[in-house]
Amino acid sequence: MPEFVTVATAEEIPPGTGRTVEVQGVWIALFNVDGSFYAVDNTCPHAGGPLGEGHLDGHVVECPRHGWRFNVQTGERPENPTITVDCCPVRIEGNQVQVALPENFS
Ligand code: FES
Repeated sequence: MPEFVTVATAEEIPPGTGRTVEVQGVWIALFNVDGSFYAVDNTCPHAGGPLGEGHLDGHVVECPRHGWRFNVQTGERPENPTITVDCCPVRIEGNQVQVALPENFS
């Protein structure tokens, strides 16, 4: 059973934005898409760019380094779905946003 960690309040991450948070020593990119929260590995698989600092357009974040894009709901690159980032479960408790690392997180 993954352990959920409080990383922010819902008000701290307005719709259409994201940020980088720490979950058990791992940097995770957390996004608010129209009131739904999604979390993925912060480290871009291209060259390590910080996805939590990328521009969010709908469900797609663009890496601030070289522009690779990832769907924050599925972790897949729209241009090449064989390239992915790991997704993390997110839950809301009251106004607290909580994220857990999945057991297979790499
Ligand atoms: S490091 Fe993300 S696109 Fe290059």
